[in-house]
Order: sequence, then structure tokens, then C-alpha cells
Amino acid sequence: MSWNVALSELEYGPEEEAAVLEVLRSRWLTMGERTTRFENEFAAFIGTEHAVAVSNCTVGLHLALIALGVGPGDEVIVPDLTFVASLNAVRYTGATPVLVDITSQHDLTLSVQDVQAKITPRTKAIIVMHYGGYPCDMDAVRSLASQHGLAVVEDAAHAPGASHRDTMAGCLGDVAAFSFYSNKNLATGEGGMVTTSSADMAQKLRLLRSHGMTHQTMDRHKGHAYSYDVVELGYNYRITEIEAALGLVQLARLPAHNAARARLVKRYREALSGISGVDVPFTGFGEPPGWPYPAVSSHHLFVILLPDGADRLRVMKALKNEGIQTSIHYPPLHDFSNVKGDVEAGLIRAEALENVDRVAPRLLTLPLSASYGPDVADRVAEAISRTLAP
Ligand SMILES: Cc1ncc(COP(=O)(O)O)c(C=O)c1O
Repeated sequence: MSWNVALSELEYGPEEEAAVLEVLRSRWLTMGERTTRFENEFAAFIGTEHAVAVSNCTVGLHLALIALGVGPGDEVIVPDLTFVASLNAVRYTGATPVLVDITSQHDLTLSVQDVQAKITPRTKAIIVMHYGGYPCDMDAVRSLASQHGLAVVEDAAHAPGASHRDTMAGCLGDVAAFSFYSNKNLATGEGGMVTTSSADMAQKLRLLRSHGMTHQTMDRHKGHAYSYDVVELGYNYRITEIEAALGLVQLARLPAHNAARARLVKRYREALSGISGVDVPFTGFGEPPGWPYPAVSSHHLFVILLPDGADRLRVMKALKNEGIQTSIHYPPLHDFSNVKGDVEAGLIRAEALENVDRVAPRLLTLPLSASYGPDVADRVAEAISRTLAP
């Protein structure tokens, strides 16, 4: 299907093309100098000590949990309104995920009150997800975590360039994972980055990323090593040089892209403000004097709530007929059949998720891209207004 307005568009130009060609001509395709540069520049950009590039965010979360020592018998808090990867990373470790509610229909990030209610002596870590690029209430999360001796893992898939009280996402917990999947603010096809300020954690992550090997192929190629030992049960979660090269170009463009997204979101909010029954979560978020706290969104998603009781599928189809692509972020985790099975088997805890249940049927994600001008917001808002008219 060719859309007039796709949900998102890849913002690639001649620099990305040149960067890939350079890799091909260099004859070195995986985990080389570009990967190291991408790690260093990403760490500097968000203001942390260590960044470890990986194949994608899902495996980044998996590595982060293993490096924290999470395993069978532990519980890990996971938001119910997130992509299934946040949950699966916990399931891979054998720990029990405990799903938590969202704060409200205005703030779709996790409810710290619900986190508090669901902490048990088995809880080992809290995964926060900066929904749509809006940072969670990290003061409250960190304070709870330190009271109970819990680790904080940021699922920062949506949040490169977002910040909370002047600290960037990726530096707001013990360890964080970013996604560079094709539709993300910083896109390399597949790819991810794990960030931490802890040297020990970074060393573990580096070992686990590549089979627990003490030296890599690049070390041997450079003549720095002749062989290697395997000191951990690790994985192949490596990144390619092609992705790293794309990442370097995209990182340099990220601030401009995020600013363009912010402008479009502002326009959307104005254009949608008169439509009866439509609510726009995160309105006024982070703006002075700071509701609910000073923060900057990376505007990965633009999500609205349709009027209560509106037929969402009908709206999506009507927009599709005008060539406008929409989506749903997310169907609640506890509604997936595979998750329900594990809840029944006692392998996942999913209790009291009332806010998610109330808000989820109303969620609708509208097109958002750095390349879209204000006309896109006006056109989409006008189509929604027409579709919802009595
Ligand atoms: C919130 C969230 N977490 C994790 C992921 C997984 O990212 P990846 O596809 O890089 O594994 C995504 C991807 O869409 C996501 O949206």
C-alpha cells in the first residue's frame, strides 16, 4: 500500500548513502572502528561514561538484565503499556515479570504508585519505558528503587535526546537500552545501544555481547592478540559496521530531527484542540513551570485518545481511505494470547491494570516524522474531525 501520509518516514540522504559505501569499500563489515566511534559519540551525546553497541534494543535489555544478575526466582517490574520486547527480555532470563499500570490518561508512563504496590521481597529490578519519548517520573522511581535496593533499567527505545531535569534518557537509571530500528528517531535498520555509567557493568556487557570472549576478531586482525579465552556464557549480540556508520550520521542529525518532530507535535496539538472528545496525552508535559516535572520529550510517537466509545477501527479505516496511516501503541501486554497463557501459568503477574484497560481502546497513533511539515498535522487533524463528525 502506498500512503499519502505514512506513519513514519526514514530521514535518509546522501550522507547515509556515502557512509554505507565507505564501509563496503573498507572491507571491514562488523564491530570495527566505526562501532567504537559510534559508541564513544553516543556516550558523549547523552553524557554518560559507557555505550555498548548491540544488534537491537531487545537484546540490549536482555544483556542489561543478565549483567544485573536477574534470573529465575527474581521479579522484574515491567510497564503494561509498552512493546512486547520490554517484557520478553525479562522472560528470557527466567525471572517473573510483574506488569504495572500507567499513571493516567494524560501520562501514559508507568504509575510509580502501582510500582510501589507491586514490589515484593523477590523484586530485583524496575524497567521503565519512556513512552513515546516522554521521560518517566525518574525522581520517584529512583527513590523507590533505592529504598528497596532495586536496579533501574531504562527501556529508552523511544527516547534518544529526551531528558529529565537536564539529564538525558540513558543516564536516568543503572543501565539503559536504545533501539535504532527503522522507524526510530535514530534509525539504522536494526541496531541498539546499551548505556551505563558503571565501568564494571560496561565490561560485563561487552563480554556478554560477543560470546564471553576476551578478545575480538578486530583485536587479532590488528595484531593485538593471537587467541582468546571464553570466560562467560555469552551471546552473539554484535552490531555491524554498516549500522554503526549509519548511526554516526543519524546521531549528528538527531537534534535537528527531534526539533522538527517537536514542531509537528505542537502543530498537531493546536489543530486537534477543537475536536470534541479527543484527548491528547502529555499536553503541557515538561513545559515551564514543569508539569509533572521539567523534561524534554524526543517525540517518538504522537498518540491521541479517541472519544470514549468511538469505533477505533472505523476511524483507522476512514483515515486509510484518505491514504493516512495510523497505528496503535500499544495493545496492552496482558491482552496478548501468549502472555495470557503465562499469566494463567503463574509465570507473569498481571493484576489491577485499570488505567490501561480504560485508556487502551481509545489509543491512536498519528503519523510523525522529522520530514513532515505543518500541513501534515493540519490534514490529519481535519480528516479526524470529519471522520468523528456526527
Ligand atoms: C518500547 C520498545 N522497547 C523495545 C523495542 C525493541 O527494539 P528493537 O526492535 O531494536 O529490538 C521497541 C521497538 O519498537 C520499543 O518500542
